[in-house]
Amino acid sequence: MGIKIPLDELVRVEKMLNTIPFMKSVTRAEIQELAYQLTRRTYKKDEVIIKQGEPGTLFYLISKGSVRVIKEKFFKKITLAELGPGSFFGEMALIDDFPRTATVIGNDVGEMYTLSHEAFEGVLFKNPQIKELIMTEAEERKKKNQALEA
Ligand code: CMP
Repeated sequence: MGIKIPLDELVRVEKMLNTIPFMKSVTRAEIQELAYQLTRRTYKKDEVIIKQGEPGTLFYLISKGSVRVIKEKFFKKITLAELGPGSFFGEMALIDDFPRTATVIGNDVGEMYTLSHEAFEGVLFKNPQIKELIMTEAEERKKKNQALEA
């Protein structure tokens, strides 16, 4: 379970958000608004954070450590990607209203921030630039996966 961010931690969250490449085009006010909606969570080595096939409820931003993205297909396990601080995941199921497309596992002890599906939709609706960046990245990931899975 995660905890809501206390006020004194907001500065840290804002700093973390400012290091994320796709946040470059976002105003300070928008970053502050986003920071208020995030919930901090830690994960452990080999913890299954997202399981392929399950319904999607959260969007994730990594602040510490790294995760691996694995797809199970016909009894084969394909590593699709490794993601580190500043990367996001969990966008596909929320955007497409589809079950999780892959499993995401912690590589080591780490920390991440989550957004509820509702808050995620609100952020995309209010920030067309963030929406564009996330949608573009999701499309690129899908193309890469098609090639890896072929
Ligand atoms: P979702 O399908 O909700 O849950 C699994 C997540 O893994 C998916 O969203 C993406 O965020 C992430 N993912 C899938 N493929 C890739 C990839 N090629 N590179 C990075 N992340 C990926």
